[in-house]
Amino acid sequence: MANSCRKLIFNIYVVFYCSAVIMPQICICSQFTSSPIDQFNKDPKAFPVATNGEIFPWHELRLPTVVIPLHYDLLIHPNLTSLDFVASEKIEVLVRDATQFIILHSKDLEILNASLQSEEDVRYKKPGENLTVLSYPAHQQIALLVPEKLRAHLRYSVAIDFQAKLADGFEGFYKSTYRTLGGETRTIAVTDFEPTEARMAFPCFDEPLFKANFSIKIRRESRHIALSNMPKVKTIELEGGLLEDHFETTVRMSTYLVAYIVCDFTSVSGTASSGVKVSIYASPDKWSQTHYALEASVKLLDFYENYFDIHYPLPKLDLVAIPDFASGAMENWGLITYRETSLLFDPKTSSTSDKLWVTKVIAHELAHQWFGNLVTMEWWNDIWLNEGFARYMELISLNITYPELQFDDSFSNTCFEVIKRDSLNSSHPISNEAKTATQIKEMFDAVSYNKGACILNMLKDFLSEETFRKGIIHYLKKFTYRNAKNDDLWHSLSNNCLEGDSTSGGFCYSDSRKTSNTLAFLRENVELKEMMATWTLQKGIPLVVVKREGRSLRLQQERFLSGVFKEDPEWGTLQERWYLWHIPVTYSTSSSQAIHRHILKLKTDTVDLSEKTDWVKFNVDSSGYYIVHYEGQGWDELITLLNQNHTLLRPKDRLGLIHDAFQLVSAGRLTLDKALDLTRYLQHETSIPALLKGLEYLELFYRMVERRNISDVTENLKHYLLQYFKPVIDTQSWLDEGSVWDRMLRSTVLKLACYLNHAPCIQKATELFSQWMESSGKLNIPADVLTIVYSVGAQTTAGWNYLLEQYELSLSGAEKNKILYALSTSKHQEKLMKLIELGMEGKVIKTQDLATLLFTTARNPKGQQLAWNFVKENWTHLLKKFELGSFPIRMIISGTTSHFSSKDELQEVKLFFESLKAQGSHLDIFQIILETISKNIKWLEKNLPTLRKWLLTSI
Ligand code: BES
Ligand code: ZN
Repeated sequence: MANSCRKLIFNIYVVFYCSAVIMPQICICSQFTSSPIDQFNKDPKAFPVATNGEIFPWHELRLPTVVIPLHYDLLIHPNLTSLDFVASEKIEVLVRDATQFIILHSKDLEILNASLQSEEDVRYKKPGENLTVLSYPAHQQIALLVPEKLRAHLRYSVAIDFQAKLADGFEGFYKSTYRTLGGETRTIAVTDFEPTEARMAFPCFDEPLFKANFSIKIRRESRHIALSNMPKVKTIELEGGLLEDHFETTVRMSTYLVAYIVCDFTSVSGTASSGVKVSIYASPDKWSQTHYALEASVKLLDFYENYFDIHYPLPKLDLVAIPDFASGAMENWGLITYRETSLLFDPKTSSTSDKLWVTKVIAHELAHQWFGNLVTMEWWNDIWLNEGFARYMELISLNITYPELQFDDSFSNTCFEVIKRDSLNSSHPISNEAKTATQIKEMFDAVSYNKGACILNMLKDFLSEETFRKGIIHYLKKFTYRNAKNDDLWHSLSNNCLEGDSTSGGFCYSDSRKTSNTLAFLRENVELKEMMATWTLQKGIPLVVVKREGRSLRLQQERFLSGVFKEDPEWGTLQERWYLWHIPVTYSTSSSQAIHRHILKLKTDTVDLSEKTDWVKFNVDSSGYYIVHYEGQGWDELITLLNQNHTLLRPKDRLGLIHDAFQLVSAGRLTLDKALDLTRYLQHETSIPALLKGLEYLELFYRMVERRNISDVTENLKHYLLQYFKPVIDTQSWLDEGSVWDRMLRSTVLKLACYLNHAPCIQKATELFSQWMESSGKLNIPADVLTIVYSVGAQTTAGWNYLLEQYELSLSGAEKNKILYALSTSKHQEKLMKLIELGMEGKVIKTQDLATLLFTTARNPKGQQLAWNFVKENWTHLLKKFELGSFPIRMIISGTTSHFSSKDELQEVKLFFESLKAQGSHLDIFQIILETISKNIKWLEKNLPTLRKWLLTSI
């Protein structure tokens, strides 16, 4: 041991080196100031011990940058009967600095042997020099020790043979199964790597910065097909009848985007305008549900190629519906994988919101082919450059390709969703440090996705769509096949001049665009990088407080905190001085339709109005990421305006006012009765998104008091809702007709009416359910009311049992989701328990659907305690099914706790989280949940008496 240590000290050698010469973009400078040898002498324990007891020569989670991969040759042979795979790889690497070891990622792989060869280094010319392999599982790394130091600037080829079981969960190279119509269970093998699971399938440099080309070969039986990122070039028949598919070499890309599948799926294909072949794959019995996805993906691919002015660089694009999938979809280059419900559309059972979802997910993953695949963030701290952009592009692409889906009107909800989170102290900046695999997984959250998209949308509004588009095209072209960071984006957006543009203040203006003088003036005086740093490097959302004094508007910004009141002792500390944003505010007034603009950079500022005005409304179209509070008469003026003629404000402004008012209630800045008074105009509201927003808050309060058994308020609120929204409820047909929003309104309103036991609703749903049962499930019920009909049907034992039978038989994921939701609304706890057990067993109810099941069960007042107890008692089992930090685990934990609103519940959750921490599982979401529960408690304490009183005067 002592000897091997000493040997190692001399071998560890200037590995922390940063050369800007060979590949400047692959430059990860070390934070070490002293040499590794000094480090080792000072603290030998700092170096980890490999599984064989020897010292492992690397102690960082991030890989060294002395050896970089250029090309991978992969040969994979999965066996779908024995459920394992054998494989071999050759990685061509460039040594940038002399070294005696190569560090790679590898997780749960059995390395059979490793060898080294080089055409450029005479000492390694003859093939097959065997290497010592050390393994350090805590960092998921292996070290290949070479007998003689590799030389700088030479290329070497590392060959590794390895094998493993096909993984049990949803990550790495895993197995997935489905049942055929004939009742046979079939297995497929599929990969899912993002963020850090390529290392479960092959030893590799598994960090986004290490881009390389991949040549993949897959062995399979003739009953299967193999798919990978690139098209197949040829198939070779091997002895014993096995086939070996060879795929074209990929473009330069990160490891997390590599993908392959061995399955027996069938497909439909089409061709995009550019000639790219697009195919949708699904298990054979689901072929008929693939057509909508084909139409949408061809249309969206055409859109993106045109919008970005950059060709999709591969010859083909496959979209595959995978029967077992942990998240919604994954953007593997050329081989996008989807949960079945995110890709398949069944005209009979898919609702209008299902269609919107499928279209959005396709748009999202296609956007990643540029944002993410072509240009990748340098490190996971900036995952928003992938996910925020993909979410933003959902909006841009759907507006153009599917205007009839009216997605533009629901984008504000994308922002409202994340504001809930971002207004808690436990939020985090968009760009956030992430080191461990769990921390990296946690970065895939609403802040990266939604806040990322919302600040991009705000910036687009500020710069104009055309300037913004030019900027992002510039960014994509400049960083093609490379990696980028925040500043690269801001730089591209400020220096995006194309030929023919005139420049001013670092911005480009094309002649075609006439910008208002104020806007041009503002842009010229804004340092983009500085402005955007305030949105990406600090957490939270600003509150703009407006006070009108005659013709003068006094603006003040502060950090918006929900659940913390100004009179609370912690308020001051939470409003630290650095919470300042550069806010591009917009406003309109009663005296002009124009959009006025101003940049609020300081804590306080004043704006002078040119004319006298009756009211002023900030954040036009809700496109800015800030909340507005009106001091003095501001809110009263707006409430009066809404009541007198709400159409004087734009629909998205009405929507924003409802949102902001209720947020301000949570922050103790506006009284609940004032916010409720604001919703009174909704009787006349013609814009459905605004109407639904008001209804959403009222339903939220209803569910809160119902769960807490506050029966007088529950009854009165039910009465109020049914009375107040009677005209809307009673005019609904039970048909799939009207615009997307008409149909969304129908689903929401009828679902609420039936939930509140509204007799005509229950009667109609019962009638349809009986007819459906009598027809043995053959009757076509309109898809938008299907969930409602099933949920009412699930309230009898016969209905519930019948639904469970149909669940097993149904081939439509969309229908299965609706049935499962309905089953989870039962009032019988033994039925709810049975469902959870089926979910844990993973046969009738797939493990992939367990998280949603626990979430919906916990929403049911009769199931909330049951679901929560279940999670507490089965935590270790759950962690065997899903990785800590993964989306399902976060959904399970927050879905079963964040609706709590009592001190006892808070204490219980706290204790549970402490016990988890003691066992070594910590998640950032724990703090978010605790803050959310505290916020709920506070809300009830402060607002319950007001709600009670307001209802008494309103019904
Ligand atoms: N890149 C993600 C997939 C992913 C999610 C990888 C979490 C690692 C961790 C993909 O592009 C994505 O965002 N998928 C979404 C679907 C989206 C369109 C709603 C998802 O899975 O929720
Ligand atoms: Zn994504």
